[in-house]
Amino acid sequence: MAAIDVVIMAAGKGTRMKSRLPKVLHRLAGSALLQHVIDCVSQLRVRRVVIITGSGAEQVELAVAGWPLGAGCPAPVFVRQEPQLGTGHAVQQALPLLPDDGLTLILNGDVPLVEPATLQRLVQRCEGRHLALLTVDMPDPTGYGRIVRKADAVLGIVEHKDASQAQRQIREVYTGFMAVPNHLLKPWLAGLKNDNAQGEYYLTGIVAQAVREGASVLAVQAADTLQVEGVNSPQQLAQLERAFQLRQASALMASGVRLADPARIDVRGQLECAQDVEIDVNCIFEGKVSLGEGVKIGANCVIANARIEDGAVIHPFTHIDGEKAGVRVGPGALVGPFARLRPGADLGPEVHVGNFVEVKNSTLARGAKANHLAYLGDATVGERVNYGAGAITANYDGANKHRTVIEADVHIGSNSVLVAPVTIGRGGTVGGGSTVSKSTPPDALTVTRAKQVSIANWQRPKKGGA
Ligand code: UD1
Ligand code: CA
Repeated sequence: MAAIDVVIMAAGKGTRMKSRLPKVLHRLAGSALLQHVIDCVSQLRVRRVVIITGSGAEQVELAVAGWPLGAGCPAPVFVRQEPQLGTGHAVQQALPLLPDDGLTLILNGDVPLVEPATLQRLVQRCEGRHLALLTVDMPDPTGYGRIVRKADAVLGIVEHKDASQAQRQIREVYTGFMAVPNHLLKPWLAGLKNDNAQGEYYLTGIVAQAVREGASVLAVQAADTLQVEGVNSPQQLAQLERAFQLRQASALMASGVRLADPARIDVRGQLECAQDVEIDVNCIFEGKVSLGEGVKIGANCVIANARIEDGAVIHPFTHIDGEKAGVRVGPGALVGPFARLRPGADLGPEVHVGNFVEVKNSTLARGAKANHLAYLGDATVGERVNYGAGAITANYDGANKHRTVIEADVHIGSNSVLVAPVTIGRGGTVGGGSTVSKSTPPDALTVTRAKQVSIANWQRPKKGGA
């Protein structure tokens, strides 16, 4: 097997996006377009990955450096293309990095959904000896380079802008993916001219060159159009996003997940579901999320980086974001509606967290409840604790964060403030409206509010009167 080098073109301006952000950094299903391409490449065994940058080069290079790479994937090497004179000119910039042996797989940074098996087929056809092109029949081929054939043989690729009316009828298009033997790539690129509608050095020009030299040009048909659709405009980006989401939804349903509406779920990352999971409409999943057996997700939830364990129910309009620390919702727990779980929220079995309750960096043991309008930050909450409506932990003194420990079976009255660091002893009760700044003994009632007084026959002041 010939060694595989990869060149990803990502220098173009992406004019049609009409954005300050370089095109390849626009996101599809939560990841940059270019990130999808690199993820795909990292599932192949390749020798070298070269990324051509130009427009917004610094931004692109910085972004790439921050992405995780698959095991065994070589760190990408960047080559700047200044100015950008076309895709052929782009690949020319990479030549000094491509050894004479092996083959180069050329990819477009703006075609995000290609799959490793497809690239593998292209490599196999190339065999390190032939020019292999990935093509596809597009129902609407507008904008793409057309594959011009005579009888069956490929003669060349003609870009949409240069195509005659007759050529524009051709539905077989070049997808932007090719595999080329390295030793042929150099002379072929050297022969490119820019005498075309856009005044660019088209990479696609090497096909005619190859044909002139009698080299074999092989076309490999992509299995479906989604894999090879490029993003050039916000419309195309949105269309591709919807198509991709629908595909993910189908895969979820095929594995048994019940979606109220496959058109109203967005997975921007990895969603793992055990058996009998139900997901209502308009839910968004980001990063890594796992849903245990029988989990129910209500409508309009946003859930990121979280593990929801067996039998837990997330009621509508709940926002969960574990960021780096993660969130765990234990078995049989009930969360929401309108709850907010932040990084480090760790809810044990049967915990209840209700409406307008925010939990951050806190552990709630089995059966603890915070049902209404409350804040728990940097807290350790024991089993069966009842945390009243409007109670908050004052965990931040303006400089440092401190912990609040609420031991098992404690009741915290409504509208209490627990000023950390503080421990509420096991079985204790805090009277409603108390501000507790000193730790309390077990089984005690602690009340810090002023004693209630009633003044009999109280006369309210009268308007204008003395
Ligand atoms: C290109 C192909 C076309 C094919 C289509 C598939 C050429 C000439 N045309 O057209 O046949 O059907 O892809 O999606 O190759 N880029 C650079 N440097 C440049 C110009 C572009 O790095 O000087 C990069 C862009 O960032 C992009 C890729 O190359 O990632 C493709 O460029 P783009 O302008 O989008 O080409 P298309 O018109 O889509
Ligand atoms: Ca394109």
